[in-house]
Amino acid sequence: VKVIASPAALQRQAAQWLRSGRRIGLVPTMGALHAGHLELVHRAKNECDRVIVTIYVNPTQFGPKEDLARYPRQRRKDLALCRQAGADIVFAPANLYLPDHSTWVEETDRSTGREGASRPGHFRGVATIVLKLLLLARPTHAYFGRKDGQQLEVIQRLVRDLNVPVKIVPVPTVRDRDGLALSSRNRYLSPEERLLAGTFAQLVHFAASKGRSAATVLRHDLKKLRGVQLDYAEISGGRLYAAVRIGTTRLIDNERVR
Ligand code: PAF
Repeated sequence: VKVIASPAALQRQAAQWLRSGRRIGLVPTMGALHAGHLELVHRAKNECDRVIVTIYVNPTQFGPKEDLARYPRQRRKDLALCRQAGADIVFAPANLYLPDHSTWVEETDRSTGREGASRPGHFRGVATIVLKLLLLARPTHAYFGRKDGQQLEVIQRLVRDLNVPVKIVPVPTVRDRDGLALSSRNRYLSPEERLLAGTFAQLVHFAASKGRSAATVLRHDLKKLRGVQLDYAEISGGRLYAAVRIGTTRLIDNERVR
């Protein structure tokens, strides 16, 4: 696997691949890779000729009181995982914003409510960095997990509205044995909190089977679960979305309502 830190070097490599008609798969990540990310890489490997994984903890998508400083960083392990998974390039820049950066990408429909309401400015940061990464890597395909369901909606809308020539590929959530969706933030959980997080995932799964009452059922069930504070439970586009706080850790999940 080739590690590239310079945006210009990535752009040169990507342009060369594009000219020779290669299908390029992009897997954007913030590192701290787990089996969910590797699933994205495997899908990209299956469908593309070349795979670029980006590792960049994007500061602009974190609010001032959020976990940017403590967000897990494990570069050597991440590189080893990318190598094993068969990535061709890992793009790991030190910084992608000039000190006087002043251009932002704002999607104003799918970004409202849910995560958008709880994390003001989050999707502006996500949309801006994702467009930057798409312009640097020039992928034909870009892979995003369904776990960050609202993020996926925002990116799909962004690509549609701005005519970005890329196919966005949603990849199903990878879960632990007890149902908890894999997330880099799960490692913040103490053993007791980890048990509660599993129960949260099971309650989302159960509530999603309750059709149109899914959100009401989930709100009701979570009230009885001590140690778990509900942020929101909402149905949107036929999926049940939920966010909770367990101790100092914020977790999100979503499932198709059935
Ligand atoms: O899903 C993530 O890890 C991030 O939001 C992304 C898409 C890499 C942008 O920083």
